[in-house]
Amino acid sequence: MLLKNKVFIITGASSGIGEELSKQLSKEGAKVVCAARTEHKLKKVSEKINTSGGEAIYVQTDITNLKQCQSLIDRTIEKFGQIDGLVLNAGISMWAKFDEITDPSFFSDLMKTNYLGSVNCCFAAIPFLKKSKGKIVSCSTAQALMGFPNHSGYVASKHALHGFLETISMENKEEITILEAVLSWIRGTNLRGNSFRADGKKHKDESRKHTSQSVSLESCVKSIIDGIKKDKKTIYVPKKLSLIPFLNTFFKNFLQKKVVREINKNKS
Ligand SMILES: NC(=O)c1ccc[n+]([C@@H]2O[C@H](COP(=O)([O-])OP(=O)(O)OC[C@H]3O[C@@H](n4cnc5c(N)ncnc54)[C@H](OP(=O)(O)O)[C@@H]3O)[C@@H](O)[C@H]2O)c1
Repeated sequence: MLLKNKVFIITGASSGIGEELSKQLSKEGAKVVCAARTEHKLKKVSEKINTSGGEAIYVQTDITNLKQCQSLIDRTIEKFGQIDGLVLNAGISMWAKFDEITDPSFFSDLMKTNYLGSVNCCFAAIPFLKKSKGKIVSCSTAQALMGFPNHSGYVASKHALHGFLETISMENKEEITILEAVLSWIRGTNLRGNSFRADGKKHKDESRKHTSQSVSLESCVKSIIDGIKKDKKTIYVPKKLSLIPFLNTFFKNFLQKKVVREINKNKS
C-alpha cells in the first residue's frame, strides 16, 4: 500500500506504539486520525504532527463505547472523506498468576477493550474500508497465538481478536486486507505500568524492567510500517517469533517449558 495521502485511524494514539505509529505514518505522507480517551495527550500528538508538516486530527474516543466509535468514523469522513486504514492498537494488559487473583472483574475490562473495543471500531469502519479497499492493522502479540503465564485474561482477549480478524479477512477477501503485527516486549510504552495486578489495581510504578530481548519502540513501528507498505498479512517483531506457530503445533511442550523458564528467570 502506498501511504501518501492515505487516511489512517489509529486507536490508542495517546501513548506508546499508537503515538509513534501516528507520527511515522504521517512522515510517510498519510493523514492521521488519533483516537484514545486522554484528550490532552491526543492534542499534543496531533499538534506535533501538524507542526512538523503533517496532517492530523484527534477524536477523543473510548473504544468500549460503540457510539463513540461511530463518532470517530463520522468525524474522519467529515474531515477527510475516506478511510484507508484502521489500526487496532488500543489495549490494556495484566500481570498476575490466575490463582493469586483476588478480584477477577478486570477480565471483563480486558475483553471490553482489547476484543470488543476493536469489534466496535471494525463495525463502524468496515463499510468505508470496503469502499477504499483499505486495510486493518492489528497490534497483536505472540500471546494471541499461545498461552502465557501471568497473562491469562490478556491472552484470552488477544486470541479472541485474532480469531475475529481471521474471519473478517475470509469474509472480505476482495475488499479489505489485514495485517497482524505479532509483537514481543516493546520498550518505552505504558503497557506494563497500566497493567492489572492480582487485586485488580494497576501496577503503575512497580512495573518490571524489560530484558535485553525487548525491542525499541522506533524499530517496532518501522517494522509495522514496512509490513503495511509491503501488504504483508503477518509480521513478527522480532522475526524469531515466526517460529511460534510451528513450535506451538509440533513442539508445544518444549515451547511452554522455554517460556516458563524465561518468566522465572526474569523473576529472580
Ligand atoms: N508494549 C508491548 O510490549 C506490546 C507487546 C505486544 C503487543 N502490544 C500491543 O500494542 C498495543 C499498544 O500498546 P502499548 O505498549 O503502546 O501500550 P500503552 O503505551 O499503554 O498504550 C495503550 C493505548 O491504548 C489506549 N487505550 C486504552 N484503553 C482504551 C480505550 N478504552 N479506548 C481508547 N483507547 C484506549 C491508551 O490511551 P488512553 O488511556 O488515553 O485511552 C493508550 O493510548 C496494545 O494493544 C498491546 O496489547 C504491546
